[in-house]
Amino acid sequence: MSDPRLTLGILVSGRGSNLAAIVEAIADGALPARVGVVLSSKKDAQALQKAGDAPTYFVDPAGYADRAEYDGALVNLLKAHGVDLVVLAGYMRWVTPTLIEPYRGRIINIHPSLLPAFPGLRAQRQALEHGAKITGCTVHFVDEKMDDGPIIAQTAVPILEGDTEALLSDRILHEEHRLLLSAIGHVAAGRLPLDGRIVSVGGVS
Ligand code: GRF
Repeated sequence: MSDPRLTLGILVSGRGSNLAAIVEAIADGALPARVGVVLSSKKDAQALQKAGDAPTYFVDPAGYADRAEYDGALVNLLKAHGVDLVVLAGYMRWVTPTLIEPYRGRIINIHPSLLPAFPGLRAQRQALEHGAKITGCTVHFVDEKMDDGPIIAQTAVPILEGDTEALLSDRILHEEHRLLLSAIGHVAAGRLPLDGRIVSVGGVS
């Protein structure tokens, strides 16, 4: 009999702390989902060691002519593993319509700032250098523009006197894990209706 739980496909490139938080929450019975597959764009990503029992693949960008062809290979793997929801968790590549189209409204990303402020790389450092007093993290649906899709939920994190990029990143990361788990929980519960850019969470957060 097939597993009725929401099946996650997690895309990673690095450390994998968000992946580890997902795997742990599932093991604790706190998240009604399963990790169907973990796909990494980096051969030596620490995340590949944090997938629990889930199958992992390193998909080498060097083996594909362009980003669209690469994303086509990811889609084949996601489909082969019955993925319902794609989670970008520290995934460091720009995704193309080849990946977005088949998973529109079913692909989410976690970003370490309050979007639309500080999109792109090193968002924590951008916030510090800008002199912002509050930053945070955002979980959003992925569309064709980078760090731009409909916002699902956000958590604010104050910037403190004497903060460094490392200290601030640690405090944001703690909130990222909570926010991402909460968003996946909403999807698993069939919430998160989307109307244009507006995502409702039915009063639940
Ligand atoms: C997180 O800060 C995430 O927001 C960003 O990349 C980092 C990944 O961390 N997109 P990890 O690999 O989940 O530990």
